[in-house]
Amino acid sequence: MPLICVCSPKGGVGKTTLTANLTYALARTGSKVLALDFDVQNALRLQFGVPLADERGYVAASSESSDWSQSVLSATSNIFVLPYGEVSESQRLEFEDKLAHDEHFVSRGLNALLNYPGLIIIADFPPGPSPALKALSPLADLHVVTLLADSASMAVLPHVENHRLTGAPLNQRQGEYFVINQTDNRRQVSRDIAAFMEERLGDRLLGVVHRDESVIEANASQKSIFDFNPNSAAAFDIEIIAKKIAAKLGIQVGDGTVHAMPRMSGL
Ligand SMILES: Nc1ncnc2c1ncn2[C@@H]1O[C@H](COP(=O)(O)OP(=O)(O)OP(=O)(O)O)[C@@H](O)[C@H]1O
Ligand SMILES: [Mg+2]
Repeated sequence: MPLICVCSPKGGVGKTTLTANLTYALARTGSKVLALDFDVQNALRLQFGVPLADERGYVAASSESSDWSQSVLSATSNIFVLPYGEVSESQRLEFEDKLAHDEHFVSRGLNALLNYPGLIIIADFPPGPSPALKALSPLADLHVVTLLADSASMAVLPHVENHRLTGAPLNQRQGEYFVINQTDNRRQVSRDIAAFMEERLGDRLLGVVHRDESVIEANASQKSIFDFNPNSAAAFDIEIIAKKIAAKLGIQVGDGTVHAMPRMSGL
């Protein structure tokens, strides 16, 4: 605990990038953080230096073991990754079927990790509604809905507010919050839409992240924005968002306690 879900009604808005960099930002404060991938694209692991050829993941393993913690990889001493893994179509369908029809499947899979002292879990989802988001949402402490400052994001904002992502209010605990990604102050339309969303979302807006070439380059070099360019606008923006999330969840940071993770494989 705690569990944070990064989701969006839209694709390509920066969910995976934000999940990874929030993981790095929260880990910088001394917490142990696990980045958990629910997207068959299996892209989140690449942000933590897992080689493209490494096909390991918890989805394929879940047909043999109900405890997903056995598939956790260690990226650094306090950053962990649970990759989706490379799976066949039938493995994906079997996993989604269990997510949709076995109400204890997720809690069994995550039980050891959710009970691991002080571990922060940040989960990345595919765009739009998904069996994973529906199954995870009741366990989540906080949702971070990522949008762009564009008209397409404005058009789908009501989908979130009208519960079209899971058929129910997204979060019953700390609530659902928003991040507007890739704002570009040089473009009038971006400024106008960001201003509109800021007013509409009020306190539900955690922050905005500027469109920043450093993000793209950091992704390409499998580095966090903080390692790649700590002075970039995006590093500054994401740091603020991470601090707000930590404050909302009452995360005790950097207490120096060292716990061994259960059965963990290195990269
Ligand atoms: N703040 C930013 N500035 C510039 N580029 C960004 C920023 N955030 C994300 N990107 C770029 O946008 C692209 C999409 O990002 P990402 O893959 O994280 O989106 P996603 O929402 O996870 O996509 P999908 O819906 O396919 O899972 C990537 O090329 C990423 O480098
Ligand atoms: Mg993604």
